[in-house]
Amino acid sequence: MKYNKLRPENIQFFKTIIAPDRVLTDPENLLRCASDKTEDLVFKPSVVIQPENTMEVSQILKYCNENLFPVVPRGAGTGLSGGALPIYAGVVMDMQRMNKILDIDIENFQVTTEPGIITEELRQAVLAKGLLYPVDPASKGSCFIGGNIAENSGGTRAVKYGVVKDQVLNLEIVLPNGEILWTGANTLKNATGYNLTQLIVGSEGTLAVVTKIVLKLIKAPTKDLLVFVPFRSPEEAATAVHKIFMAGYTPSTLEFMERKAIEVAQLFIGKNTIKLATDTQAALLIEVDGTLEEDLMDQMEGIITVLDQFETGEILFADTAAHKEALWKVRRVMGEAAKGSSIYKEEDAVVPRSKIPLLYNKVKELDKAYGLNTIVYGHAGDGNLHINIVKNDMSNEKWDNLLPKAIRELFVYTHQLKGTISGEHGIGYVQKEYMDTVFSATALRLQREIKQIFDPNAILNPGKILKEN
Ligand code: LAC
Ligand code: ZN
Repeated sequence: MKYNKLRPENIQFFKTIIAPDRVLTDPENLLRCASDKTEDLVFKPSVVIQPENTMEVSQILKYCNENLFPVVPRGAGTGLSGGALPIYAGVVMDMQRMNKILDIDIENFQVTTEPGIITEELRQAVLAKGLLYPVDPASKGSCFIGGNIAENSGGTRAVKYGVVKDQVLNLEIVLPNGEILWTGANTLKNATGYNLTQLIVGSEGTLAVVTKIVLKLIKAPTKDLLVFVPFRSPEEAATAVHKIFMAGYTPSTLEFMERKAIEVAQLFIGKNTIKLATDTQAALLIEVDGTLEEDLMDQMEGIITVLDQFETGEILFADTAAHKEALWKVRRVMGEAAKGSSIYKEEDAVVPRSKIPLLYNKVKELDKAYGLNTIVYGHAGDGNLHINIVKNDMSNEKWDNLLPKAIRELFVYTHQLKGTISGEHGIGYVQKEYMDTVFSATALRLQREIKQIFDPNAILNPGKILKEN
């Protein structure tokens, strides 16, 4: 690569612009920032720098841009596509010190925050004012809001409230050359020029570093109902999803999980919260929320009536807060549990909602054809499945040669269904190989040119999203 290697005098220079105790080269910090939650990948940076404000971010970037040092912005490192991996070493810009909430505007239902705050802390802070930031990623207890912006995260309530991009009003960003700007306005509507805000959301730290975020909020619903519905057939469970919407209901959660996913999650937790009947092959976790008890009861009864046409088992109502939390726990650990025991790959395909049964069946067909072992669950209400492929005792040779073929076949099919290859985990380092399954050469060229405009020296998070030539 054309990047320069950091030398002791460069590290020394950083210590003249940033307090020396925030310029880290100790093995522990280098190792901490060498991986995220993606597979078993490890790439050590040369230095970890922890800016405390926008000016510091700007100075670091300007210096790295002038000297051709790669810079990888890092949130909490919970990403699943390798977005935070410093694959060419260089600088990891660790945003954890920029963790302040700057303003909660209760008159306009908005919050302005720095990027390094844990998403759940932000959620709790606005909830204390009766407001809800509705995006609910499974990792909300550890991920940062800045990382959520970078990946355009979704989570379990996107089906009703939308994903991160639907909540972001305005961003303060720093370009690789150090220039600082706001991308939009703190307004609910904005028809003013190209939408730079939305371009930055989901750009995985490849175009600019986000330093301030303005999010819209809603009045927090005060009540919810949660049920777990077992099905004999995964295909029927997946088919029920769009039928619920067609009947006029919009649940706040509509999650699909196959039996194996529930089993690994419960094994991981060490507790059988859900007693699975022997003929249960899949389940839906359905939540409705709002403010009026009767209204929620009506909605849930309506949804259950829709489910009458399918072969369901005994429906489990979560009747206490503790019971709800226990069910949520099973769902939230599912990803971690699925990959706890073996090397794995995780796919994040998304299709129009009614095509979920076809996507699921294709995964199982590929299992047979390629001898794979998959564990499937996900945000079926959004048409989004998480497909964990676990290696177990498959030979390395098969794993290395067959798997990319199987994944490509899955993605080509996903595209035929008018879907795409990532709903919320991003492309990052591990999926860039497959961008051609969903984008034409022209669409890829436009994306390359956008990157070039923002980052002509390609110092910002290099080797992500787009394949290098
Ligand atoms: C989930 C994460 C993996 O939905 O996206 O559990
Ligand atoms: Zn998810």
